[in-house]
Amino acid sequence: MRRLDQVRWPSLLSILSALLTVSAAVSTMVPGDTVGDGASLASADGKFRLGFFTPGSSTLRYLGIWYNVSRKAVVWVANRELGLNDSTGVLSFHGNGRLTLSDARGVVYWSTGAAAGVANPVARLLDNANFVVTGSGARGDSAGSYAWQSFDYPTDSLLPGMKLGWDLRAGRNRNITSWKSADDPATGEYAMGMDVHGDPQVFLVRGTARLWRAGPWVGQRFSGIPEMNTYDDMFSFSFHDDADEVYYQLVVQPAGVVERVVWVESSGTWNRFWFAPKDQCDGVSPCGPFGVCDSNDSPVCSCLQGFDPQSPQDWYLRDGKDGCARKTALDCRNGTDGFVRVAGAKLPDTSAAVVNYTMGLGECRAACLRNCSCTAYASAQVTGEGTGCILWGGDLTDLRLYTNGGQDLFVRVAAADLGMGRLGDGQEVAVKRLARNSVQGLDEFKNEVVLIAKLQHRNLVRLLGCCIQGDEKMLVYEYMPNKSLDVFLFDTTMASLLDWNTRYQIINGVARGILYLHQDSRLRIIHRDLKASNVLLDKEMNPKISDFGMARIFGGDENEANTRRVVGTYGYMSPEYAMDGIFSVKSDVFSFGVLLLEIVSGKRTRGVFLSDPTINLLGYAWSLWREGTGMELVDSSMTGSYPAAEVLKCIKVGLLCVQERPEDRPTMASVVLMLGGDTASLPQPKQPGFVVTRGPSEGLSPSSRGESCSVNDVTLTMLQAR
Ligand SMILES: *[C@@H]1O[C@H](CO)[C@@H](O)[C@H](O)[C@H]1NC(C)=O
Ligand SMILES: *[C@@H]1O[C@H](CO)[C@@H](O)[C@H](O)[C@H]1NC(C)=O
Ligand SMILES: *[C@@H]1O[C@H](CO)[C@@H](O)[C@H](O)[C@H]1NC(C)=O
Ligand SMILES: *[C@@H]1O[C@H](CO)[C@@H](O)[C@H](O)[C@H]1NC(C)=O
Ligand SMILES: *[C@@H]1O[C@H](CO)[C@@H](O)[C@H](O)[C@H]1NC(C)=O
Ligand SMILES: *[C@@H]1O[C@H](CO)[C@@H](O)[C@H](O)[C@H]1NC(C)=O
Ligand SMILES: *[C@@H]1O[C@H](CO)[C@@H](O)[C@H](O)[C@H]1NC(C)=O
Repeated sequence: MRRLDQVRWPSLLSILSALLTVSAAVSTMVPGDTVGDGASLASADGKFRLGFFTPGSSTLRYLGIWYNVSRKAVVWVANRELGLNDSTGVLSFHGNGRLTLSDARGVVYWSTGAAAGVANPVARLLDNANFVVTGSGARGDSAGSYAWQSFDYPTDSLLPGMKLGWDLRAGRNRNITSWKSADDPATGEYAMGMDVHGDPQVFLVRGTARLWRAGPWVGQRFSGIPEMNTYDDMFSFSFHDDADEVYYQLVVQPAGVVERVVWVESSGTWNRFWFAPKDQCDGVSPCGPFGVCDSNDSPVCSCLQGFDPQSPQDWYLRDGKDGCARKTALDCRNGTDGFVRVAGAKLPDTSAAVVNYTMGLGECRAACLRNCSCTAYASAQVTGEGTGCILWGGDLTDLRLYTNGGQDLFVRVAAADLGMGRLGDGQEVAVKRLARNSVQGLDEFKNEVVLIAKLQHRNLVRLLGCCIQGDEKMLVYEYMPNKSLDVFLFDTTMASLLDWNTRYQIINGVARGILYLHQDSRLRIIHRDLKASNVLLDKEMNPKISDFGMARIFGGDENEANTRRVVGTYGYMSPEYAMDGIFSVKSDVFSFGVLLLEIVSGKRTRGVFLSDPTINLLGYAWSLWREGTGMELVDSSMTGSYPAAEVLKCIKVGLLCVQERPEDRPTMASVVLMLGGDTASLPQPKQPGFVVTRGPSEGLSPSSRGESCSVNDVTLTMLQAR
């Protein structure tokens, strides 16, 4: 029998500490061995240690496992519910394979069951932090051979190799639960575990209330954690073997947040690397059935194409919980239904969905059409082209969109709601419906449409007509096969289709389109809502500015105006406009600058920078520029080569456009000249406006989603041909 430590008297601690160092490499216990308070086991590679610790400001002692780097880097606790109030605790390993933790009075604080049928048991702390009881012959990681393992009893941390969910053999649901507080490892209020109904999903819960849905595993990642695509390191559940080791773990914190944390050696603390829930859209189904949540929009909720708000009144008061209802009932039997593609989606709740991992997407579509109760389908594995099939029946809930990542979801709608109409002569058109609660009067609307219809420039989308039915107003545009710029820019796969020449052509085209609005047309027009989704692309990828719904037309000598109703899209609005309602051509210049930087970087202005979530794209571009590393801004998805000088020139022009003071920003005429000239002649940009992001303020009007509608049953007012 070996005794790693027989300390009973604190006075002997110091004497024995030398001996403890010697025993540091011991990772195994055989029957009769004990580990006393002050001693410890170490994994064979020395990364993990099992022993006694006191958390935070507590005075109690707990048996746990921590990263050898620090006793504060705890990953597992044995006696989490019951701490010892002195240092007489001893972990003993018995002949029947049982582990017990008891104190000098013989009180047992924690124990495992006997290891039935295991001859010559050993207890071993493995290199992956799993503390196991196994037969002495067994080594390695064959989990099936463990009589007991700490990985079956996770505390608040998910470690590489650990599994959440049902262990069918043991009938046990493995989940991770928060500590009560930083000082008390007892089971807290929050848990993260797996719901195995339908396509299994991981949830963060408080009691029975669901707080956040990580969604189903879609191969490589959870549907609700798109960052797993981009930040391999953060989620790869493997250890790094080099000297500059980085330790990560996923933890449920006492405050009800799931965090991916990284150990920072210099400060001796865990730093948050990623977390959820993050925003309004991470709540469970904030927009109700058939609603879509997009945190980049205001309000965040909208309806899927083919659906209308169930309770329009509540919806306009920013309460989307009731969700949306179908405009047109599904046909089913006649086989005329179709599907609307929702890109960048977090898959809806799959608790009642059906999964098949061998079907292809085509088969999946057919299976959905065959079944009258099927409402949507999607790939079950996003790897490569995508394989497998998830079929939803009934309501689609908890659907949200992601800026980066996400996947395609195909929602079944009746033929009448499939959008993209056709005029009588067969010309394809795009129809855009304006917000029903628009304050604009009918005459005003008609006048404005007539004026805009007279604008003619190759970088402005052509307005073909409008239609008015009751309080419903719609605009009919020429059809743009390649949709809008945001579809390409903010999706890593699609972005690779945009090489530098295409991007440069788009930047120049948009600049010329705005210049035309500002001074070359007979009117002076301020667009007020320039953004990637309002730049449409024709079949040759020429940009066309669209959506003049918020445009303001100025009289000849008017230069600046003030409005009490600030409309536009957060992130593209200049400071003087967003805060004081002052708009001028210079507020469009600001939005153009933001758009330009988005085109170069492939990042949304409000995209998340993990290293510092408070910095937006402008702040990021500005700091790179000042450090002389502007080229780091370039979209990593961009294929092909690009001339550095041209890219840097564009970044510089972008930064000049987003300067804080409107008078410092160039006019569009100068911008077009700058883009055509060389960098040397350009002034140095000053600090941009809005470097630090803030939440969207209420009272911004909804920026429209580009919803389409059928033109079948409405009166079209065609404008005179040009
Ligand atoms: C473990 O930690 C101890 C004390 O902090 C240190 O002396 C030892 O070198 C570490 N072992 C490994 C393998 O890092
Ligand atoms: C520790 O707790 C026991 C009861 O669990 C109590 O009898 C004992 O007095 C306590 N010791 C100290 C030092 O608080
Ligand atoms: C977590 O696991 C415990 C123990 O198995 C169980 O009582 C609890 O219901 C589980 N919670 C969730 C959310 O799965
Ligand atoms: C299906 O087609 C038949 C005959 O064309 C038509 O009468 C019926 O209304 C259609 N059903 C639906 C739900 O559209
Ligand atoms: C999945 O689909 C394939 C092809 O349709 C079928 O052969 C197979 O039985 C299905 N598997 C399950 C588990 O339903
Ligand atoms: C049709 O879909 C529903 C919902 O997904 C499912 O419960 C049902 O089994 C399906 N029926 C057939 C015949 O596949
Ligand atoms: C743009 O649309 C045209 C016509 O639909 C298509 O041929 C082309 O491949 C599209 N370009 C890109 C980059 O998707």
